[in-house]
Amino acid sequence: MRTHYCGELNTSQLDQEVTLVGWAHRRRDHGGVIFIDLRDREGRVQVVFDPDTEATFATAERVRSEFVLQVTGRVRHRPEGTTNPDLSTGEIEVLGKELVILNSAETPPFHLDDDSVSEEHRLRYRYIDLRRPEMLERIRLRARITRELRAYLDEQGFLDIETPILTRATPEGARDYLVPSRTHPGEFFALPQSPQLFKQLLMMSGMDRYYQMVRCFRDEDLRADRQPEFTQLDIETSFMDEDAIMTLTEEMIRGLFDRVLGVRLDDPFPRMTYQEAVRRFGSDRPDLRVKLELVDVGDLMQGVDFKVFAGPAVDPKGRVAALCLPGGCELTRKEIDDYTRFVGIYGARGLAYIKVNEVSQGRDGLQSPILKFLPDDVIEQIMQRTGAADGDLVFFGADKASVVNEALGALRVKLGEDRGLMEGEWKPLWVVDFPMFEWDDNTGRWNSLHHPFTSPKEEHLALLKSDPGNCHSRAYDMVLNGTELGGGSMRIYRGDIQKQVFELLGISDEEAEDKFGFLLNALKYGCPPHGGLAFGLDRLVMLMTGAQSIREVMAFPKTQTASCPLTNAPSEVPGSQLAELNIRLRKVPEKNRDS
Ligand code: AMO
Ligand code: AMP
Repeated sequence: MRTHYCGELNTSQLDQEVTLVGWAHRRRDHGGVIFIDLRDREGRVQVVFDPDTEATFATAERVRSEFVLQVTGRVRHRPEGTTNPDLSTGEIEVLGKELVILNSAETPPFHLDDDSVSEEHRLRYRYIDLRRPEMLERIRLRARITRELRAYLDEQGFLDIETPILTRATPEGARDYLVPSRTHPGEFFALPQSPQLFKQLLMMSGMDRYYQMVRCFRDEDLRADRQPEFTQLDIETSFMDEDAIMTLTEEMIRGLFDRVLGVRLDDPFPRMTYQEAVRRFGSDRPDLRVKLELVDVGDLMQGVDFKVFAGPAVDPKGRVAALCLPGGCELTRKEIDDYTRFVGIYGARGLAYIKVNEVSQGRDGLQSPILKFLPDDVIEQIMQRTGAADGDLVFFGADKASVVNEALGALRVKLGEDRGLMEGEWKPLWVVDFPMFEWDDNTGRWNSLHHPFTSPKEEHLALLKSDPGNCHSRAYDMVLNGTELGGGSMRIYRGDIQKQVFELLGISDEEAEDKFGFLLNALKYGCPPHGGLAFGLDRLVMLMTGAQSIREVMAFPKTQTASCPLTNAPSEVPGSQLAELNIRLRKVPEKNRDS
């Protein structure tokens, strides 16, 4: 139906007759001449209709926004002074000779150029939203990225293998999506939170190198970088250790950035232990573009006359840390209050600060509601440790270490953004040496920091019994600009260690047998040492396109409340369907009552 895409045209087709198809982006009547911007996947071109061609002109008069058109005409230079440098086709236009309206369109719910449309509305009419050039560009880049990743892994001898979607629970720490079974009344499939166990089984099958672009399902609280269904680039290998896996996947990401964005990432990526990341940045996915760092001052506060600080300072689970903001004296009272509210989101009960007017003046050169609680030598040491200079402001967090880390860790990034303290565009790193477990005060149990199939470090095996809290794992996370892009680990390949870890996690023998019996069994029949990782594809595309949320790089995402305004999913189902599944709702929805 076409000879060219609209966006492809330029001066090299001058004087040629072309046939185009696409949507009417805009139609303008200019005193007897009609201009239609015709739009397709590749871009837009201006088509001109003049009254000389009477029938065609009459058709052009009927065209409205988003009509689907076929145009035949001749490419010509735009008249002097009317070229549009913002458009790739801006030097030319098409003089329309024939025009067919392939389909009319109702007035669309919003114009494509309108960027004030609510996200709900955009999602409801996603097929229109996706016509917008920036959406198209992101979807196109996503396809390019998956193509590059596949090509690299194919080249490295990885096999693309599919794994089941209807399966059993896979513990990645979120809630499962369940699917009732009709043929097994009262029983349910779970949708996979990841293909973790299947990819391990594939290693036991001797596949050696596996990858898959795979949909994962997690019923969890949603955020800008979390969706209930999302895509992983999932990878597993046999007979490779963590260094080899990190090198291979790092190479993959570096190559991707180079080819797609022309960006050269660090070679190699720096590596940082979990402990160092949390101590210096309050986070296990530090944004290294922000130079600010947390500084421990707990040892200075143990004896001070300010309970807010002295309490956490002597508590082994507490932390008192400072964060020095260069030039922070400029902050107004209101700005400080706003930051205090901001850290409140992370559970901080306050945000003490000292304004540093003149360091050399000692106490007299400082300004703060908490000065009165702090002796001279403590003040002096705080200034030294934080390296505070005239004009700076030092923030403090004091609480349980987890609260201080989250609050000051987030504040650090926010200050970096608000105050223009970001350096460098791309800062990747590996975080390594994670603890195996973290203690959950609510349940009084250990939880896996990664997942229960992650191997402890060889030299920490004995700690599984004596000191689980200090047992480190062979896990690694790839972090880019403060986002966890991917994570993985070397796996447990010995049945006795797997059992020991289940035990520590409070999973009884019966439960382990019931849920993971197939894995424990497979471990008995010749399991190779193996490990791998999974990248969040949506997050990778989000970062590479500069989008603010992964919803912007998914064709049909869900809302923050895990629903789809386009299809209205989830939805009620007829009673007959429920009956077939042997399901009776506790409270039957109104609509289903009679069916
Ligand atoms: P993990 O749970 O860390 O590891 O997930 C791997 C990566 O997937 C992405 N991700 C998400 N992206 C969007 N929405 C979500 N709800 C979401 N949850 C996770 C993140 C994350 O780094 N089986 C292990 C991997 C392994 O050990 O090989 C796993 O799933 O980018
Ligand atoms: P207060 O004595 O409660 O008025 O607090 C004095 C200062 O300490 C205020 O600036 C509070 O914001 C701050 N503050 C209170 N609790 C904490 C805390 N847990 N961590 C850091 N600063 C705090």
